[in-house]
Amino acid sequence: AATRRRFSDEGRAARCHNIEDLRVMAKRSVPQPIFDYVDGAAWGEVTRRRNRDGFERFELLPRMLVDVSKLELATTALGREIALPIIGAPTGTTGLTHPDGEGAVARAAHSMGTIYTQSALSSLSIEEVSAMAPGPKWFQLYVMTDRGVAYDMLQRAAAHGYEALVLTVDVAVAGVRERDVRNRFSIPPRLTLRAAAQGLVRPRWARNFIARPRLTTGNTTSPRVPAGGGAVAHAEWVNRQFDPSVTWDDLATFREHWGGPLLIKGIMRPDDAVRAVEHGVEGIIVSNHGGRQLDHTRSTIEALPAIAEAVGGRAELYLDGGIRRGTDIITALALGARAVLIGRPMVYGLGAAGEAGVRRAFELLHGELATALALAGYPRISDLGPEMIHLVR
Ligand code: FNR
Repeated sequence: AATRRRFSDEGRAARCHNIEDLRVMAKRSVPQPIFDYVDGAAWGEVTRRRNRDGFERFELLPRMLVDVSKLELATTALGREIALPIIGAPTGTTGLTHPDGEGAVARAAHSMGTIYTQSALSSLSIEEVSAMAPGPKWFQLYVMTDRGVAYDMLQRAAAHGYEALVLTVDVAVAGVRERDVRNRFSIPPRLTLRAAAQGLVRPRWARNFIARPRLTTGNTTSPRVPAGGGAVAHAEWVNRQFDPSVTWDDLATFREHWGGPLLIKGIMRPDDAVRAVEHGVEGIIVSNHGGRQLDHTRSTIEALPAIAEAVGGRAELYLDGGIRRGTDIITALALGARAVLIGRPMVYGLGAAGEAGVRRAFELLHGELATALALAGYPRISDLGPEMIHLVR
């Protein structure tokens, strides 16, 4: 029984003591092309590295002799109470990493008392994720060539109680991720001899694969899965669905098809943030897509202060990209974010230990955040502000 526990998902998750541990375990557990799809980024992966390094430019200034016996980590996101300032970012084709895909990730987020954002390019449909994970969810959409399909998804998301629409605007065309190109990563993935061999080397993944061979993507959520079983390169599949001619003027059309609050994801400049505010968005997600789109941008954490100043509280501000530690969350909140979103940490967790691994990712960040708040002398996240941050260089 002890051995079974040790090798159970819970046991594996418990052996990870930070997000990097989950990443390493995921790397050992899923086939290399799928790990690379999750872990990788565009071109030289400069932005991906900067997202991490950016946090090192900020030093925390802790204050002493503050009563930190009671911590307050709860906040609200668009009026919905969340138990911690961490929200699940949208990640597409999550079913590649684990057959329970977005359902498992959403359930883990809900078990921690927070929101999950489902991508329009999910492995599981809106209906499937809703059934598996009835908790609070946002729906993320790209601007698709086929607006009819997009509007249909909005209707279904509304019918299933998704509380906000996240419109991702940094994918005019697909970013070039060289690891995927090299691996000939495709949708649906080709079952090559090499992949089959890796299934043997990584028996956990093979078991999942055999148990529920849900390897194709977007069966009902997303349109245009290659018909007739043909596989296309992932980037080409993405390019087929996105409308590169979209401008700010199109925002109003989405409003007509979505009655709830709207967040815009992928903003990196203060002037764009101001435009978003002028277009009446309720929320802005400062994001560079985890470095998976345009390479060589600024890190999101370095972009945040000027955006926060420009927005001046007229919309709720969120940030994602490179959040791997509780102290990263403190920095983001102190510089003006209401909460952060995490992408890869959840999917690493999923690959490492299924739903238990995703939960572990949230728990680790939650635990680190709580300890760091106590040590910093800021028991309430609502008190965090730029006065506790010092910019280096
Ligand atoms: C993403 N991201 C993403 N964003 C989005 O708006 N729609 C999507 O379908 C996806 N798909 C996706 C898949 C995978 C595997 C990853 C890793 C990321 C980007 C995501 O929402 C988020 O912006 C970044 O992941 C944040 O950076 P970190 O937390 O991964 O460093």
